[in-house]
Amino acid sequence: MASHGGIFYFSALIILAATVASVSSSSLSPYYYDSVCPEALPTIKRLVEAAVYKEQRMGASLLRLHFHDCFVNGCDASILLDPSPTIDSEKNARPNLNSARGFEVIDQIKQAVDEVCGCSVVSCADVLAVVARDSVVALGGPTWNVELGRRDSTTASRAKADSDIPSPFMDLPALINNFKNQGLDERDLVALSGGHTIGFAQCFVFRNRIYNETNIDPEFAQQRRLTCPSIGGNSTLSPLDPTPAQFDTAYFTNLIQKRGLLHSDQQLFNGGSTDGLVNTYSSNAKAFSADFARSMIKMGNIKPLTGDEGQIRSNCRKVN
Ligand code: HEM
Ligand SMILES: *[C@@H]1O[C@H](CO)[C@@H](O)[C@H](O)[C@H]1NC(C)=O
Ligand SMILES: *[C@@H]1O[C@H](CO)[C@@H](O)[C@H](O)[C@H]1NC(C)=O
Repeated sequence: MASHGGIFYFSALIILAATVASVSSSSLSPYYYDSVCPEALPTIKRLVEAAVYKEQRMGASLLRLHFHDCFVNGCDASILLDPSPTIDSEKNARPNLNSARGFEVIDQIKQAVDEVCGCSVVSCADVLAVVARDSVVALGGPTWNVELGRRDSTTASRAKADSDIPSPFMDLPALINNFKNQGLDERDLVALSGGHTIGFAQCFVFRNRIYNETNIDPEFAQQRRLTCPSIGGNSTLSPLDPTPAQFDTAYFTNLIQKRGLLHSDQQLFNGGSTDGLVNTYSSNAKAFSADFARSMIKMGNIKPLTGDEGQIRSNCRKVN
């Protein structure tokens, strides 16, 4: 009997060790800069708070930058590289052109961090990850420990940005598949789509929804048409949910009322497999907060460059 127990215990240990190894395979750590530059994270937090105080929408724009970075060859700051003879900038890809914003804020933060650290030790990819967290917190959302130690790419891919960032015209199966390709499941899809509890979208991305779709509250459609004409006004903004400067659960409550702004938003509550999660998050802020934080860490772990891969850029817009 004793030997049986021993063998069982030994196997359980091996399984446990293997599980821990696979979970922490990224080799990132929340403590990465603690000894080399303890002032890095407080500096970022202070500057994000200032930027969001100056313009509340900036918090949303900065959160989105980290997402658009991570979905294209991993979280490697590839989105920050400007066009050059060797860089086909992701800034010119369809989902980013005249849409992604906040690049000057990132420049300013990176410069301040390098100054307080005395040299360029914090990667642009880590700046994006910390800035995303601090933006959510600045708008009243949950906090989490950001995993750190990513390095920056020396390349960018406009083509991959076009193909890998999800489109607002996708149906639920395509959205699920898009996230699955990044190692993210349906729970991550619904929780992370909750990022649309803050920020705005331009008329041309939701025009077809408010004029042509039927799974929409007619009063809401009418309201949105007032500032989004059927022709023209392409870049006029509408809030993604009724409280675009508050990180709350209104995005989900809104979906249940068929008031999702983007086609892709309403797909999460349209009689499919994700309806249950939308219901849960709409009535349980704690569950949404916990899942959003967990999924942000998971998204932040997508294919990071570590060790001697890539570099620490001194200017986030250019390869060293
Ligand atoms: C699920 C698939 C997603 C699609 C199809 C999608 C699509 C879009 C679109 C079309 C816009 C409006 C852009 C514009 O009009 O210029 C937008 C805005 C935004 N997205 Fe997403 N998104 C998705 C997921 C996410 C995720 C995972 C996050 C973050 C966790 C996120 C955060 C944001 C934020 C904060 C904004 C507002 C940005 C601002 O006001 O500057 N989105 N998204
Ligand atoms: C509505 O759908 C029709 C048919 O697909 C399309 O031609 C038209 O441009 C759409 N209207 C708007 C305002 O998007
Ligand atoms: C407005 O957006 C539509 C749909 O994306 C596009 O076909 C059209 O060329 C845009 N108009 C202008 C003036 O940019």
